Amino acid sequence: GQPAKYVDAVPKLPVATPRRSVYPGADYYEVTIRQGRWRFHRDLPAVPTWGYWASGDAEPAGLGYLGPTLIADRDRPVVVRYRNRLPDRHLLQSAVDVTMWKNVPGVPPDPPGGRMPQNFPERTTTWTVTHLHGGFNFSDSDGGPEAWFTPDGRHGPDYRTLPDAKPDEAIYAYTNHQPATALWYHDHAMAINRLNIYAGLAGLYLIRDAYEESLGLPRGDFEVPLILQDRDFTADGALSYPDKGPTPYHPRWNPNFFGRIPVVNGKAYPYLAVEPRRYRLRLLNASNQRFFHLWFQDGATARPFWLIGTDGGLRAAPLPLTTVWLPPAARIDLILDLTGVPRGRRITMMNDAATPFPNNDKPTPMPEIMQLRLTRPLSDPDRTTPPERLRLAPIPALRPTPGLPSREFVLIANKDAAGKSTHLAINQRFFDEPIEEFPKAGTTEVWEYVNLSADGHPMHVHLVQFQILNRQPLNADAYRAAYTKWIAAGRPAAGRPRLDRYLTGKATEPAAEEVGWKDIVIAPPGMVSRIALRFDLPTPLAMVPGTGVYPATYVQHCHMLEHEDNEMMRPWQVVP
Ligand code: C2O
Ligand code: CU
Repeated sequence: GQPAKYVDAVPKLPVATPRRSVYPGADYYEVTIRQGRWRFHRDLPAVPTWGYWASGDAEPAGLGYLGPTLIADRDRPVVVRYRNRLPDRHLLQSAVDVTMWKNVPGVPPDPPGGRMPQNFPERTTTWTVTHLHGGFNFSDSDGGPEAWFTPDGRHGPDYRTLPDAKPDEAIYAYTNHQPATALWYHDHAMAINRLNIYAGLAGLYLIRDAYEESLGLPRGDFEVPLILQDRDFTADGALSYPDKGPTPYHPRWNPNFFGRIPVVNGKAYPYLAVEPRRYRLRLLNASNQRFFHLWFQDGATARPFWLIGTDGGLRAAPLPLTTVWLPPAARIDLILDLTGVPRGRRITMMNDAATPFPNNDKPTPMPEIMQLRLTRPLSDPDRTTPPERLRLAPIPALRPTPGLPSREFVLIANKDAAGKSTHLAINQRFFDEPIEEFPKAGTTEVWEYVNLSADGHPMHVHLVQFQILNRQPLNADAYRAAYTKWIAAGRPAAGRPRLDRYLTGKATEPAAEEVGWKDIVIAPPGMVSRIALRFDLPTPLAMVPGTGVYPATYVQHCHMLEHEDNEMMRPWQVVP
């Protein structure tokens, strides 16, 4: 059943305090990844969950579920020592599927002839690695999928750390060399991050700068970070996730998962008590794969709000909206003006996004998320800038470097003989096939996501904040036939089908709400989605020895975690 709505207050996410003396000139945190307990709802008992605890000078900050917010100043580096103190058994052990990847603890390599289901041990250890999503960072601090480490000190093949880490630790440096925005840190371990994040391994990371400070935006209690997730619970109130999938190929993997209950900052159907003034809402969608299409229902109408920022920073101008998209892993920065709203009013955050997007062929509706309640008197006059009067800085359009061909990334859903999904792929490659993309530092490229599968995918690229150029329809069936024939023929260079011959309509500009710095692009089915990306490499940090080791390998992937975990992810490398 559904828990009672709007009986719990939205938890305030704790903010961690850094230590400033360990790496002079940088902020330092020790973050422990461990099991805790958390109560998702007033009527549910406290249950085991996973989370991050950060200790600096103060007491460790953590809720038991999710992680504390880390706040960084632009250009001032942050160093984090991550420590894996998870138990050996996964919180969702029965859903762990080690047929999905060979380089996980306890699994022998593939048999000759390819990836086949293997007998996997019932007892595996818990591997984790943390990635700062949206950050401009060194590849050896990026927390890629094979950089995991276990509580007993085993390491993935791409494990990296700055000096002085113990075997169950990794030390990463973050440059913060980017505009003020909301990033998030989360688990990124190969073949298991859907379960690790589901268990709680996600937290917010805000970058501040002087420009943002000068704008007169709501702050303190009136700037509210909200982490939106969908979850299911057992009758006992524990987190529940399916442990059987549709294909014998990966017996515990599901191509789709949608929880039925909205959880915001860890509470199911919470409410936020508000004053009649302007609020800045910092929204993150940390669901495994649910898209949100949100609005604020106020009586009979949708209350207008202003979009002021996207994934990578503030927009060029505030945008008035009544609904907004929030695909998996994306962030939005909103001003909701509640000035003059009468006491007692209740405003409900609503959602009508399809599951999966955009077909809704596995409908799992989640129409209500949370409520804002006007129960508080105005505590002091609101001196923030009215959103319509905000003067934001222009964002220069990225100009692709002349003469560089676009890179094409074909998204394909693979099925077994019975028509059941086995895995999704980018360019029909497995994750560990050789790197094919080597963008040069200092250039701006165009990447094209050609979606030949039936569902939309939120595509994410590490290291860069990009801009969405346009989308163009294509004849996906015809192109899929030609493309798979070309793959079967061994990809002869001369025989590659030409994408331009399969385009069926005009390119259209991105929606107004997608204009700005983005690290997630929705790639709808039957469309080519084009983005422009500028490649730069961070410079080594003087105060943090060991930063800036090459080669600079990063990944791109679908941010539906079930897809990402099962190889809808590819490495690429920046070359100087
Ligand atoms: Cu949010 Cu590669 O991740
Ligand atoms: Cu996907």
